[in-house]
Amino acid sequence: MDTSLLARARQCFLAEADPAVQAEATGRFDRHAPRLLHWLTALYGRQPMFDAWLLSLCTTLGTLARARPPALRELDRERERDPDWFIHEKRVGYCAYVDRFGGDLNGVADRVDYLENLGVGYLHLLPFLRARSGDSDGGFAVASFEEVEPALGSMGDLERLAARLREARISLCADLVLNHVADQHPWALAATQGDQHYRSYFYLFSDRRVPNRYEQTVAQIFPQTAPGNFTHNDVLRSWVWTTFYPYQWDLNYAYPPVFASIASALLQLANRGVEIFRLDSAPFLWKRLGTSCTNLPEVHQILSALRAMVDLVAPGVLLKAEAIVASTDLLPYLGVGETLGSECHLAYHSGLMAASWTALSEGRTTLLRQLLDSTPPLPAHTGWMTYVRCHDDIVWGVLRSDVEAAGDDFTQRIGAAAAFLEGRRPGSFGHGVAFQSADGHAVHGTNGMASALVGLDSAGNAVALRRFALMYGLAFAVGTVPLLYMGDELAQPNNEADEDAALIALDSRWVQRPRLDLARLQQQLDPSTIAGKANAAIKALIAARHDPAFDPQASVETLACDNEALLAIRRGERFMAVFNFSDKPQSVDWSRLHAGDGWTTLLQTADDAGDDTGMLPAWAMVWRKKP
Ligand code: GLC
Repeated sequence: MDTSLLARARQCFLAEADPAVQAEATGRFDRHAPRLLHWLTALYGRQPMFDAWLLSLCTTLGTLARARPPALRELDRERERDPDWFIHEKRVGYCAYVDRFGGDLNGVADRVDYLENLGVGYLHLLPFLRARSGDSDGGFAVASFEEVEPALGSMGDLERLAARLREARISLCADLVLNHVADQHPWALAATQGDQHYRSYFYLFSDRRVPNRYEQTVAQIFPQTAPGNFTHNDVLRSWVWTTFYPYQWDLNYAYPPVFASIASALLQLANRGVEIFRLDSAPFLWKRLGTSCTNLPEVHQILSALRAMVDLVAPGVLLKAEAIVASTDLLPYLGVGETLGSECHLAYHSGLMAASWTALSEGRTTLLRQLLDSTPPLPAHTGWMTYVRCHDDIVWGVLRSDVEAAGDDFTQRIGAAAAFLEGRRPGSFGHGVAFQSADGHAVHGTNGMASALVGLDSAGNAVALRRFALMYGLAFAVGTVPLLYMGDELAQPNNEADEDAALIALDSRWVQRPRLDLARLQQQLDPSTIAGKANAAIKALIAARHDPAFDPQASVETLACDNEALLAIRRGERFMAVFNFSDKPQSVDWSRLHAGDGWTTLLQTADDAGDDTGMLPAWAMVWRKKP
């Protein structure tokens, strides 16, 4: 560590600090800045003018720290005293599009009571910043980090919503789309006009030679609708790196100003009240020839630097990795080795999600168990986001290495699971939709709302309701922060709205992006309706997690039960659960699971499921506790 650089950085950060908060700012600098400098030096230390760039960044960070509003400073202090706040508060998350949930940001504010009633403590609003006009990948093609999408409101509305949510103790989570910007973002426009500084923000290639070499090792995200990773731009007369859609230009993090720009976009949103950032497409932030250009060591250096910066300026803020990658590549996003516990606070457990859908379609839990058994313990002060559905497809590729480790052919085994969920196998109950897949050759993703995938289409379908509760039950039993996807709490079916037909035709992920169904909303407390039944099932799960026997800090272990249809888990000393993923009743030997004497039923999804020597009906689940 260059101590003279650190001392100069300290001066820049603390310049003009208000004497009232000088001691606090100094303490944070001394605790976190060495880490920030360490990672930035690793990434950019060899660049010309590194020192000057770093000092200017520290000046900006100091300004942003001083601009933090008093209510958020208070939150920072509270959370510094209790870094496990997001774990032990047993929060449940909710994820929604602003327009589809509330019309606009003010409409979302009007629905805060609804979220409170449901028991939600975290709200992820899908992208709401100004997006490019025309196609925008559901807002993931950001044209301005400084403006809200006009149809959704203003920055003032965002601040008011964040304050209203804070009052309700619901943390606002927003996407930070940091891998790419829209081709209409001012940086891309400046690059198009030939500005050398902004050209360096992107990966531009004058001919196909280098892109062709990259294509040999880089996978494709939308192989059918946006094949390849490069798009030709006629004005630039160059190939632009576009991992996702052609209008989403990848940012070049090897150029230090990109880091600084994204860092200040993050902190400005934090100062408006965003408490959790979903770091969109995090694995793709660094490229190197001859590699998959995902999960590279520099990605972890960038995320560790962002984390140190957040700890320094806005320590109440959490970072959440959206890393939809093989389970072996996932844990590093929470920090391992040198970055132990100092990278992201949260990560999506996408492998668990995909394996639970595989278990449901196969009627056996081998892959699920294998995945849970190979999930290493969480580093301190970190957690798993668990979920059943989200706005994206079930990305099957995350299971490839687990399936191959089990000695199976990925395309065959997962292709069969996907086909089952998509209603293409005899006896299947699912109404999913294949995504970017070619039957029999490639299995990419499956779309559909949870209720469609479990075949829940009528209130009288008790077994389908059990399948629905089973899927959510697993996410709620295993996760640190389980996530509800908007509409699932009312068992909304796939989106078949006429006005969305064109979107669905273009990108079938829109089948799981319906508008909140107001008729179902009216039925949420009516147990004779499908919406009321699903709602009661979700509320029962939320309530059961609040039982003192449920310890969210305890790790999850699987229990041997000699029956592939069942999954039995234990979490801490006083909580266990058994899930039947098959279409037949299975017998459960509670005493063998060490959950007999002294244990009582905390939750069950079939009347006769809790009996001590009983059978667990098809797709039923029991949670037990020890007083
Ligand atoms: C993330 C989003 C997805 C989007 C992609 C590109 O994976 O979840 O919806 O298409 O990033 O931004």
